Formats: sequence, structure tokens, C-alpha cells
Amino acid sequence: MFQLNLYASQKGALQNEYIEHAYERMIELERQHTDFFKLKLEEFGHEAPKLSGGLTSLAGHLLGGVALDFTTAENRYKLGIAVETKAIEMYRALIMEAWEYPDICQRLWHNMIDEEFHLLWYKDNLKHATSLIQST
Ligand SMILES: [Fe+2]
Repeated sequence: MFQLNLYASQKGALQNEYIEHAYERMIELERQHTDFFKLKLEEFGHEAPKLSGGLTSLAGHLLGGVALDFTTAENRYKLGIAVETKAIEMYRALIMEAWEYPDICQRLWHNMIDEEFHLLWYKDNLKHATSLIQST
């Protein structure tokens, strides 16, 4: 849910069509992840948790209280790396929890692999953004 809201909130600041399509695809996948969790929570008779504190404070928390300017691509990618790393950790823990439920586990593995692809995309684009800054 957090990733979906975060990436959707950053779409207006993106610098070109390629980056916009990459974010759109990530948002699409994060929405599928969120829908899966909502469905499973409903099946087990729970409500989906609500996020409190807003995106900025959650983002700051993920970065260890460091305040970053998210109008720069470099900082958006750094936040993306932090968010995706956290999501991968979460999926690892959930896979262990859901070990007895192969259908749920399979979905969790797939979601975790989506997050790993996102992480690699952010890392690669951070490298390019950093080298562009250094070459100017
Ligand atoms: Fe992701």
C-alpha cells in the first residue's frame, strides 16, 4: 500500500516518458500486490491496515530520519531502494510465516521477486543519475 501511494505521488515529478512508463508498471504491480493482501485479509476476516502519519514521515522513517528533497531523481531512487529493500525483507518474513500454505507462498515469492526487480531498476537508475551529475 505504501509503495503504491508513494510511487503514484511521485509520478508528477518524473523527467521523461521512459521513467513514467517504468513508474506506471511498478504502480500496476504494487496495486496487484495490495489487492492480493486485501483479498487474503478479507478471507481471514481481517480489515486492511490503514497507514498513519503520511507519506513524508513514513519515507523519513525508512531512511532513518534523514530528510531528503524528493524533487530530485537521485533522492527518489534512494528512497525507492530503501522502500524496496524493506518490502523484500517483509516478503521473506511472510514466506516463512505462510510456509504451510503453498498457494499464498507462491504469490509471496512472486511478489518478492517483483520487488527485487524494482530494487535493481532503482539501483541501476541511481547509478545513471549519479554519473550524469558527476559528468556535468
Ligand atoms: Fe516494488
